[in-house]
Amino acid sequence: MKKLVIIGASGHGKVVADIAVKNGYDEIVFLDDNEDIKECGGYPVVGKSNDAEYMDADIIVGIGNAKIRKRIQESVDEDKIIKLIHPKAVIASDVVIGTGTVVMAGVVINPGTNVGKGCILNTCSSVDHDCKVGDYVHIAVGSHLCGTVTVEDETWIGAGAIISNNIMVCRTCMVGAGAVVVKDIEVSGTYIGVPARKVNINNYSDIECVYI
Ligand SMILES: CC(C)(COP(=O)(O)OP(=O)(O)OC[C@H]1O[C@@H](n2cnc3c(N)ncnc32)[C@H](O)[C@@H]1OP(=O)(O)O)[C@@H](O)C(=O)NCCC(=O)NCCS
Repeated sequence: MKKLVIIGASGHGKVVADIAVKNGYDEIVFLDDNEDIKECGGYPVVGKSNDAEYMDADIIVGIGNAKIRKRIQESVDEDKIIKLIHPKAVIASDVVIGTGTVVMAGVVINPGTNVGKGCILNTCSSVDHDCKVGDYVHIAVGSHLCGTVTVEDETWIGAGAIISNNIMVCRTCMVGAGAVVVKDIEVSGTYIGVPARKVNINNYSDIECVYI
């Protein structure tokens, strides 16, 4: 038996469970701090996130919000945390991927790239050659990092966004869906549009308030 505990019973957790099955896990349970959620993707919710430390199983955090994902992953015994890679992801042989990271279907990661821990590389996103993706980064559905891009810790690259080659995006940024980033982003904040520009934080949710 190969047992996995997924912390976070959400739509994202459901996708994580599907990837786990494809990686040979035959017993899957969820933990979630919302007592009203009883199941996710057909798998039972058996307790709260704090229960993870008592469970004899591999663990992964399936929560979209970077700060919560980081807090929970760092509260769990690191030896139990796994990474999950969908069998239909295409990953160059020298790519380094940290623990707790989930790589979804259709993702392409090209040579020379490092991906940190606790990241989400979401469906059909791509990370080209020689990129550095920090910890707890989310590269959302269909977004693309061109070659030699750096994305620092806890930044969320929104769905369909493009980061042009040789660009750096600093930590704790929100790059909005469909944005095209053509200049380094050195100040944390929310960036939208083509080319991407910083928007007034008072008019937009910051990353801590945005959930998937
Ligand atoms: C940028 C973002 C975080 C802003 O969210 P928000 O603070 O809730 O902002 P709102 O939805 O209230 O929109 C505020 C304004 O910005 C505009 N706007 C929002 N997102 C935008 C985007 N990505 N590009 C261009 N304009 C955008 C809205 O049309 C609205 O304009 P208006 O005031 O003229 O009506 C969000 O829209 C976004 O892009 N999230 C990414 C979602 C995503 O990638 N999901 C992936 C899941 S895998």
